[in-house]
Amino acid sequence: MIRKYAFEGGDVAADILERYGFDGELAEIYASNRDFEVHKWHHYIPLYDRYLARYRGTGVRFLEIGVAKGGSLQMWRRFLGDEAVLFGIDIRKGCAAFDGLFGQVRIGSQDDPDFLARVVDEMGGVDVVLDDGSHRMSHIEASLRVLYPRLADGGTYMIEDLHAAYWKGFEGGIDAPGNFFNSVRAIIDDMHRRYHHKGLNRPEMEGAVSGVHVHDPLVVIEKSVPRAPVHSRVV
Ligand SMILES: C[S@@+](CC[C@H](N)C(=O)[O-])C[C@H]1O[C@@H](n2cnc3c(N)ncnc32)[C@H](O)[C@@H]1O
Repeated sequence: MIRKYAFEGGDVAADILERYGFDGELAEIYASNRDFEVHKWHHYIPLYDRYLARYRGTGVRFLEIGVAKGGSLQMWRRFLGDEAVLFGIDIRKGCAAFDGLFGQVRIGSQDDPDFLARVVDEMGGVDVVLDDGSHRMSHIEASLRVLYPRLADGGTYMIEDLHAAYWKGFEGGIDAPGNFFNSVRAIIDDMHRRYHHKGLNRPEMEGAVSGVHVHDPLVVIEKSVPRAPVHSRVV
């Protein structure tokens, strides 16, 4: 299904510029990646920059779910800088080979709450989660339920490759109850609770969602205490 979208050209950075109008440093960092493979959709690069550039050069505690061949951790190290506390988790034992190269790698499953809690404790907290793991609906949910309450105020929770939400093999489907976009709707309803009488869907996220951004096929949830709305008429 995704094969038809594969880029067959040579200049990745030029393609990102031409298609998406983005010429930020991350395009060059991605395009010049070597030795450790990283696989990204080109339109993710400007989105990463939009939501994550503010953490560059800081001691951001960044957790990536899904290490694969190590290239994305290399990319994040180059983008975020030496101060970043970079952790990756993966279920595949072979990924332990990347531990200590660009960050720390821990082996375990993203649907194991104890494992996730241990990793966050070791990180000293977490400011950014990027879920690029199994892409199974129940796993995405399990991670969100454990990690969101642990996300620092001002933090960012990003879930990518949500085309899987429409695919049965990932527990998704347009009408599947587990389709993650149903969870997104529930989170949005909670954000707007003052305007309806339906009960709270996600107590673990209550009062801690200041923005939900949906892109094809990536969701970003911004964590901070939302400010109460106020209006006025000015003449
Ligand atoms: C799409 S790849 C990650 C790619 C990498 N982030 C990159 O950008 O190149 C997905 C990874 O998630 C891992 N994975 C699959 N199921 C997992 C689970 N239950 N918990 C943690 N990682 C899992 C796979 O082993 C695989 O390495």
